[in-house]
Amino acid sequence: MAQILDGLKVSKDIKQEIKVEVDKILAAGKRPPHLAAILVGESGASKAYVNSKVKDCKEVGFKSTLLKFSDTITEGELLGEIQKLNQNPDIDGFIVQLPIPKGMDEQKVIDAIDASKDVDGFHPENFGRMALEMEAYLPATPYGIMTLLERYNIDTQGKHCVVIGRSRIVGRPMSILMSSKGNPGNATVTLVHSHTQNIEEFTKNADIVIVALGAPKYLKGSMIKKGAVIVDVGITRVEDTGEKGYHLEGDVDYESCEPKAGWITPVPGGVGPMTRAMLMKNTLLAYKRKF
Ligand code: GUN
Repeated sequence: MAQILDGLKVSKDIKQEIKVEVDKILAAGKRPPHLAAILVGESGASKAYVNSKVKDCKEVGFKSTLLKFSDTITEGELLGEIQKLNQNPDIDGFIVQLPIPKGMDEQKVIDAIDASKDVDGFHPENFGRMALEMEAYLPATPYGIMTLLERYNIDTQGKHCVVIGRSRIVGRPMSILMSSKGNPGNATVTLVHSHTQNIEEFTKNADIVIVALGAPKYLKGSMIKKGAVIVDVGITRVEDTGEKGYHLEGDVDYESCEPKAGWITPVPGGVGPMTRAMLMKNTLLAYKRKF
């Protein structure tokens, strides 16, 4: 039976630590950190994510501003809104919730964000700094996973870590962080993706498997080694007949993996809340130092 990597608990600890710092800032008579979020369009999932970010801000004592636009906004107008936030000294950091409507150039939008306010860590300058092991805003999900492993003293040094999925916001940065100097870090990393043949040949030999595919219940117990650390990044909305009309499913087939794994993240309550907490952490960093 696996031990649980309790992201919900650790995220609460982190938010509490941030709140203590904010209370000190306020007691010194200074203004609180301020996060802004841009939401374009009507996606239910995106709305839910942004609303939880606003809620997190309230919880830790940050100011937040939510800018909502209909999907009829032009790319030029959106870039104009980003410039306003870049230039507003009252905003420490901001995010553009992804995905943005089809037809807009996502990279162009991300490039327009001032790297010093890019608390999502998506700007090429931050990604490059991360890859070079320089100080940077780390993307929230990989940062959250690294922090979760750190708080549970999971030894990754010299271990074989398989990352499944090469997305720009999870898989690829995760593979870089796990191979970077440090512990967590110093792992031997294999990044597998849709063109990899016989993925289970890799996962069966892995000490740590990080799955970020968006394919519900993809990783089966038969694909992992006994005692492996299993990190599930998936949160796919799967329709059901319940009150909400959907539930969340991870990329890990928990039933078959949990008895075999050494450590495992649950869904919900694993990586998701860590991601949210790390956005707050990055916003506090943006407030404290502008690099
Ligand atoms: N869409 C899915 N995850 C994220 C995230 O971490 N940040 C933003 N801005 N959009 C997302």
